[in-house]
Amino acid sequence: MSQFQEKTQIIRFEQLSSDIVRLTLDSPDIASRAKPGQFVMVKAGEGRDPLLRRPFSISQTSNERHFQILFKVVGSGTSILAHYRVGEYLSVLGPLGNGYQVDCDDDNCLVGGGMGIAPLLFLGKWLVRVCPQNPPLVVIGARTAAELSPLVKDFEELGLRVHTATDDGSLGHHGFVIDVLKTINLGSSSRMHVCGPYPMMAAMHLFCKERGLSCQVSMETHMACGMGACLGCIVPSRKGVYAHACSDGPVFDAKELVWKVK
Ligand SMILES: Cc1cc2nc3c(=O)[nH]c(=O)nc-3n(C[C@H](O)[C@H](O)[C@H](O)COP(=O)(O)OP(=O)(O)OC[C@H]3O[C@@H](n4cnc5c(N)ncnc54)[C@H](O)[C@@H]3O)c2cc1C
Ligand code: FES
Repeated sequence: MSQFQEKTQIIRFEQLSSDIVRLTLDSPDIASRAKPGQFVMVKAGEGRDPLLRRPFSISQTSNERHFQILFKVVGSGTSILAHYRVGEYLSVLGPLGNGYQVDCDDDNCLVGGGMGIAPLLFLGKWLVRVCPQNPPLVVIGARTAAELSPLVKDFEELGLRVHTATDDGSLGHHGFVIDVLKTINLGSSSRMHVCGPYPMMAAMHLFCKERGLSCQVSMETHMACGMGACLGCIVPSRKGVYAHACSDGPVFDAKELVWKVK
């Protein structure tokens, strides 16, 4: 699969909430080849600190020319990225990783938590286009309404019905997305596409295992190279000892992984 290292121009900057930013980048090479679930490695700043690129899901593409990343400011790299502006350039490597497996005969269900919602927006848009007769169910959650509302709007603009949950009860169900899923009558051909914090994905694995449902998870581990050349991203796998989240994933069949459940 082709990968590109490019200086991409920022053509849109959106501050979605106090600490969530969306950048639209101009890169026909990456945008035209990207698949939902793939990611890019982005260099934050020109200097040596931070030295390593940071991984971000491709959260949407348009016109085979533009793609978006959506991120929360959590540390040094994301703080620097949040200070870029329209017209400036970012060094980006991608598209990387495998992406979600899609079958239009399944009842696809997108389950996201926090910034894990980012790749699901791309997947939702993709499914609406390739499986118009069977649009996906969307169940997403975040800490607060301020964090979740802009993302709900994005799914609704695709014509999708969105179920929501927030930690503080400010939008939708007061609690976890899994509680919402328990209230929905899911068919046996449901296929869960999941991305979010580790405990949520571990819980989704158990939820699906108990019901015999297919479950794909995107593992957002720490990453150093993003290309299978170091051991920065390993996750325990049932197939071998470890898998590389960057090159074997980031999307895995949840059954292939060894889950640490507290
Ligand atoms: C495939 C993939 C896709 C991702 N997609 C997105 C996305 O679409 N939007 C988004 O906001 N984030 C995403 N992430 C996470 C993102 O890469 C990190 O938030 C980012 O690298 C933090 O960089 P920083 O320099 O700001 O933080 P750092 O200074 O490196 O770390 C700040 C704090 O965040 C924690 N942290 C850093 N990276 C991670 C991680 N991967 N998982 C859990 N905790 C972490 C650190 O332990 C530390 O406590 C993704 C990660 C992966 C592997
Ligand atoms: S991040 Fe280097 S091998 Fe995955």
